[in-house]
Amino acid sequence: MIEYVPGLSGVPVSKTKVSYLDGQKGILEYRGLRIETLAEKGNFIETAFLLLFGKLPDRIELERFSADVRAHRKIKFRIIDLIKCLPENGHPMDALQAAVAALGMFYPTRGDVRNPENQYWSAVRLIAKLPTIVAAEARIRRGDEQISPRDDLSHAENFLYMLTGRVPEKLMADILDTALILHAEHTMNASTFSGMVTASTLADPYTVVSSAVGTLKGPLHGGANEEVLDMLQEIGSVQKVRPYLQDKIARKEKIMGLGHREYKVKDPRGVILQGLSKRLFDRYGASVLYPVLQEVERVAEELLSEKKVHPNVDFYSGIVYQKMGIEADLFTPIFAMARVVGWLAHWIEQVQDNHLFRPVDIYEGKREMEYVPLEKRD
Ligand code: COA
Repeated sequence: MIEYVPGLSGVPVSKTKVSYLDGQKGILEYRGLRIETLAEKGNFIETAFLLLFGKLPDRIELERFSADVRAHRKIKFRIIDLIKCLPENGHPMDALQAAVAALGMFYPTRGDVRNPENQYWSAVRLIAKLPTIVAAEARIRRGDEQISPRDDLSHAENFLYMLTGRVPEKLMADILDTALILHAEHTMNASTFSGMVTASTLADPYTVVSSAVGTLKGPLHGGANEEVLDMLQEIGSVQKVRPYLQDKIARKEKIMGLGHREYKVKDPRGVILQGLSKRLFDRYGASVLYPVLQEVERVAEELLSEKKVHPNVDFYSGIVYQKMGIEADLFTPIFAMARVVGWLAHWIEQVQDNHLFRPVDIYEGKREMEYVPLEKRD
């Protein structure tokens, strides 16, 4: 008798050296380095190198990797044309998925996906081009021309520049850079698993990433940050928080931004993002929705902490991005711009010692049925 585990909860699907999570203690490490340390001392490009290649880069490695990513930010005009053909009210995650899948046609991974040179350049291209796609789509749908990337700007600066046409203040870019570090990797989550299933067929990395983008879109995964903001707007005021949460809980509905399959304490990334939101609010003024968010956390602690349901990363990321002037439906694409690193790190690991994912299901349907001719069916 094979045991069925819904959602594969707790079932190991791979061995990895990429990241470590202790959900009871609220610990997350990338390649053995605590997320708090990386958020304080590192930057996103350095973190990407660490996750992909297993060690912090030395000066020469970092300069080369950073220069390669900067040099590959441009996207082909045909990708821009493709984005222009998409409906302007479509979700940017769908546009991102389509554009990433199309990228693979421009850079076919000829030969071996296990070749380190192929892996390096695919990773460089994907990390470099995702922000350009996201920013281009955001502008094109509102009728503006896309802005070409600038290779003299940092990863976060360049993204905000391509989105708004203005080079952001350092604080703004630093906060986005830290948010990207926090979202870059998170052990065996749904989108990483989806990417790994695709990777296990030895499909090219663009197909791997487009699978993962599709999975990240769902509201139970990356899409939650957008929904948190919708929820705060719907609640509208501090006084309405308690009845709103009580009603949701009574109807057994999930409150967005709370709970996590692994964390049984407050998500350590949420703790860091909360600190970042304070820095942003000190500089640019508090968000009107912040008191509502704080009240949701306070009341949820009261009502749900017994079930070990606490704020997750998505609880705070929305309010941070909103203060940066970013539209809500770009929150998940920004998550993808960061998580592409984790997907690629697991892709590299997967193909090194590949085993095609082919689980089983437990059949519960009818068997040995007779074919009834059409005229005799009612
Ligand atoms: N709001 C209210 N109750 C919640 C909750 C939430 N967000 N998350 C979990 N719970 C409750 C469940 O109702 C369940 O209660 P019960 O035992 O009385 O039935 C209990 O906590 C366990 O929940 P379960 O759904 O089994 O946990 P899970 O590990 O399958 O769920 C998530 C994890 C992330 C899917 C879930 O917490 C969720 O849907 N959260 C909202 C979406 C979100 O923010 N996603 C981003 C994750 S980073």
